[in-house]
Amino acid sequence: MAKMAACVVESGEDAFRKIFKFYKRRNPPPDFSDVIDFSRSAQSDQVIPAILDPSGVSDEETARVGLQPVRDWRAFGLQGYPGFMFISNPFLLGSKPFWVRQCLKTYPQKPNVCNLDMHMSPSETQDIWDKSVHGLSCPPSRTQSKTLLDRLRWVTLGYHYDWETKTYSASHYTPFPADLHSLSFQITSACGFPGFNAEAGILNYYRSDSSLGIHVDESELDHSRPLLSFSFGKSAIFLLGGTRRQDPPTAMYMHSGDVMVMSGQSRLLYHAVPRIVAAPQGHPALEVSGCGPASSLHDSVVEPLSEQDWAVCSRYTHNSRVNVTVRQVLGPGQSFPETPSSHQRTDADQTDGDSAKSRKRRSCDCVDTVET
Ligand code: SIN
Repeated sequence: MAKMAACVVESGEDAFRKIFKFYKRRNPPPDFSDVIDFSRSAQSDQVIPAILDPSGVSDEETARVGLQPVRDWRAFGLQGYPGFMFISNPFLLGSKPFWVRQCLKTYPQKPNVCNLDMHMSPSETQDIWDKSVHGLSCPPSRTQSKTLLDRLRWVTLGYHYDWETKTYSASHYTPFPADLHSLSFQITSACGFPGFNAEAGILNYYRSDSSLGIHVDESELDHSRPLLSFSFGKSAIFLLGGTRRQDPPTAMYMHSGDVMVMSGQSRLLYHAVPRIVAAPQGHPALEVSGCGPASSLHDSVVEPLSEQDWAVCSRYTHNSRVNVTVRQVLGPGQSFPETPSSHQRTDADQTDGDSAKSRKRRSCDCVDTVET
């Protein structure tokens, strides 16, 4: 248990909630000295090297999706969390902007589903990027209204997650993006999970004051497959707990480009994001080499960005964070039951504030912001 956790938590209480509130607190700001930073070596006794399978993926395959050769990845595990793996920014220099552009420009497009669809017509939520770029290219002003991109909170891909019933269904499916499927396949193969089939994705868009409540991802019908998480833009404090709310979580930074793999016993643990923080010095959200080609391979998935796309992505990630979780929903040969699944994603928690509006958002398990 972390030092801070030990001193604020008493036995039997909801330790996760207490530590969530500790890191979410604005005034006075919390002490971050217990937060594990995988980008800095030898920082915590809890951090152990992770074993990868470099033979599972060729250098050419990783380069195609903008990743370094597997032998160069800095991959870690955490004592007490079997199956948890943290890969500290395995992306090739210059390839992150492509993935950020996919998250901001491509994946929010129809037929994918986003939070704006809940109260706007399809024609209004068509071309979120095109309708936002002008606003995002101008210097921010107090009077300017928020762009659609500023108001984007989540996008779902593949089997579209139903936030109300907390289930996936065969009837609400659109093709999963091939590029993200390929990226996920390479990473999971290198982590010892060959044949991973990315079937559902949830993108969460965080502003500086956003948080994500305490939950377990258990709606997928097969839990033997890992859950993958990619982060871009501002950094976050991520809390990884146990199977019970009384288990105090471990706090760690997720910086731009970091990847987490939750498998085995760590696949069904409570986790949350109480706070977004500035990217550390020397760890920019996007590299300045910006729009240059990330790979010279003729069949590369990663393409260079136009100057305008790069400028918008750079501006967005300076103030915001995007997280992508990728899931395999069904095991090999498995299909959806006739009746809706009884697997439920645990209710999001318990953040500060108690308005009906914030309660509604919490029950949706999605990114919660003070102001939208
Ligand atoms: C994150 O934003 O890092 C976590 C996303 C999730 O748990 O769904």
